[in-house]
Amino acid sequence: MNLRVIKSPAEMRAYSDSIRAAGKTIGLVPTMGYLHEGHLSLVRKANELADITIVSIFVNPTQFAPGEDLDSYPRDFVRDRELLVRNNTDVIFYPEPKDIYGKNHKTAINTKGITNILEGSTRPTHFQGVTTIVSILFNIIKPHVAIFGQKDAQQAAVIKRMTQDLHFGIDINIHPIVREIDGLAMSSRNIYLSKSEREDALVLSKSIQRAEELIREKINDAVTIIAEMRKIVHSVKSSDLDYISFVESDSFEKVNNLVEGREYYILIACRIGKTRLIDNSLITF
Ligand code: PAF
Repeated sequence: MNLRVIKSPAEMRAYSDSIRAAGKTIGLVPTMGYLHEGHLSLVRKANELADITIVSIFVNPTQFAPGEDLDSYPRDFVRDRELLVRNNTDVIFYPEPKDIYGKNHKTAINTKGITNILEGSTRPTHFQGVTTIVSILFNIIKPHVAIFGQKDAQQAAVIKRMTQDLHFGIDINIHPIVREIDGLAMSSRNIYLSKSEREDALVLSKSIQRAEELIREKINDAVTIIAEMRKIVHSVKSSDLDYISFVESDSFEKVNNLVEGREYYILIACRIGKTRLIDNSLITF
């Protein structure tokens, strides 16, 4: 199969128009590249859900704050391309920043409320950058369905909200977290971890597993469960906990008492050494 790489937004738009005119459906997997098995599982999902799979690779500058890792964010287009060939991708959309954000770019998309808590409280400009680029990609590529990973659960909830609020008419599909054999959630940032930090990073998934156990025992008090999770996180010296929180799965409102039959996310964000990692689990109490 021939994988096509399109760099120009105008060419991308014309290609998508031709696919739609032919009565075919488009599945989009937006990424920042440096692909791993987690991304590839999204690509395979897109293959299942749509006729044509488009993967965008764009390290989006507007979602990084000054001092974050924009310049050092890992990039390897040749390897990404090879992985996408093997996973039956039809098109890679690989634009230059200047072609996405022109000199006079003045517009940003902002979803209120859900974006200034949790990830948004430590990264106040992050979600505005994400919703802006995802809207731009939706407008250029015009997919029928877009697939996002549950690993970034708050991002997925924000994008779902924005897609509904702005009537994009695109189906948002959230795909489960893909983990390494020992439980670490896959992330492009895992390569920043030293050997010992890689070991220490398991406290995120282990604390989540402990929470799941307590939930199976019907402990409904989030404070008690979080205290147990904290003990695990603090058992390694390299950890610096940002937050552990229980939220309603759609609204992302914080909860203290879990109610029978309701769906929640258990969310954790923690630095291991200098690397900030996140993980979560979607549970029904
Ligand atoms: O999850 C990501 O990789 C990015 O936030 C996204 C959705 C591709 C937007 O830049």
